[in-house]
Amino acid sequence: MNETIRLMKSHFSVRRFKDEAIKEEDLNEILTAGQMASSWKNFQSYSVIVVKSKEKKEALYDLLPQEAIRQAAVFLLFVGDLNRAEKAVHLHEKDFHPEGVDNLLITSVDAALAAQNTLLAAESLGYGGVIIGMLRYCAEEVATLFHLPDYTYPVFGIALGVPNQDHPVKPRLPLKQVVFQEDYQEQDPSFVSAFDQVQADYAGARATDSWSERVATQFGQPEEATTKALLEKHKLL
Ligand SMILES: Cc1cc2nc3c(=O)[nH]c(=O)nc-3n(C[C@H](O)[C@H](O)[C@H](O)COP(=O)(O)O)c2cc1C
Repeated sequence: MNETIRLMKSHFSVRRFKDEAIKEEDLNEILTAGQMASSWKNFQSYSVIVVKSKEKKEALYDLLPQEAIRQAAVFLLFVGDLNRAEKAVHLHEKDFHPEGVDNLLITSVDAALAAQNTLLAAESLGYGGVIIGMLRYCAEEVATLFHLPDYTYPVFGIALGVPNQDHPVKPRLPLKQVVFQEDYQEQDPSFVSAFDQVQADYAGARATDSWSERVATQFGQPEEATTKALLEKHKLL
């Protein structure tokens, strides 16, 4: 085991922060490391909005009352972004076609890879954070708050800061249920109750619902309409 792997294996999301800033040179290093993630054809189809002001964090918290947002020293909004692409396309072509599922995958995947690099870099410097995806449930309001133009959309944010909490890493599914050899291996449904038990043992008294109940809440009903509505408005669908 080396330092990098040790760091990756000790990740846990931090949602409570001390009232301490992130040093400017650290933030620069973190963002630069994040930027070195791979991206589709090096298009780098994402942008990051660095939010430090109390007013902006409070305004976002009003839309999405998650404590991590207002306690964060810095909130990084990851934006799927084909706005820059439009400028490049119009140097060569009359038509611009940013819309479609594959383009959404390109922008979301680019943003996600950069975000994971960013969070890991922050953790390596002793900071902590949590990815905040629920802001897509108020996508239009978030787009308005941050003046997101056409061909862009909020993918998620990262609340970052100096950790004010410590807890054991959250258990993952057994590797063999996620990593298959040579072919896809559909799982026997018995894995569900087994993993519910693993999660319940981890959460202890803090548990409110089971892992599979949370999966059912998410995927047992039609998705929230908010993301699609904003994507249509911003000409990405
Ligand atoms: C795309 C994405 C969106 C997420 N959105 C939220 C969120 O809105 N609020 C939150 O508290 N955690 C959020 N999380 C954090 C996950 O709940 C967390 O990573 C997961 O439970 C595993 O826990 P761990 O990161 O502590 O290992 C999100 C994670 C991802 C990858």
